[in-house]
Amino acid sequence: MNGRAWTVDDLDAIAALEEECFSDPWSRRMLADSFLLEGFRGVLLEEDGQIVAYGGVQTACDEAEIELIAVSEMYRRCGRGTAVMEDLLTIARERGAKRVFLEVRVSNASAQMLYLKCGFHGLYCRTRYYPDGEDAIVMTREL
Ligand SMILES: CC(C)(COP(=O)(O)OP(=O)(O)OC[C@H]1O[C@@H](n2cnc3c(N)ncnc32)[C@H](O)[C@@H]1OP(=O)(O)O)[C@@H](O)C(=O)NCCC(=O)NCCS
Repeated sequence: MNGRAWTVDDLDAIAALEEECFSDPWSRRMLADSFLLEGFRGVLLEEDGQIVAYGGVQTACDEAEIELIAVSEMYRRCGRGTAVMEDLLTIARERGAKRVFLEVRVSNASAQMLYLKCGFHGLYCRTRYYPDGEDAIVMTREL
């Protein structure tokens, strides 16, 4: 494993990164509620005592969903997104998932490239999936 699991002490920093990375960020409350979700696991990478990347996966029976993944802007394009994804896929596999899914904005080419590189392929489009009306591409890969 490249990173470590989230703890409650990490939530303020992760919430700040969510604000930095997304137009529809998870709030601190949503992040805190993830501890109550059976099958959810969050992981993060730290450098020089700072959280620079994080992600979360929800596993139920033999399927998993990548719920979030992000890298702080100045740390991108150096393999950290791939490292977080590898951790999330390992967790899902260890918890018995055989297949993993995710949604990505049609406009988010960098994330789509990451997912393709990590072995995902597109399944179908969810029209107006996001609150601002943008469509999502559902992607999947076998574990
Ligand atoms: C998507 C994201 C997590 C990628 O993180 P990262 O640390 O830059 O990813 P990596 O360095 O591991 O890149 C892996 C591959 O993804 C692709 N990729 C990543 N960023 C890219 C970009 N801006 N343009 C084109 N391809 C890109 C490349 O194929 C890259 O491999 P390469 O560098 O060998 O060419 C990061 O851009 C991010 O946090 N974006 C904002 C949050 C977000 O959109 N999250 C996904 C929500 S669905």
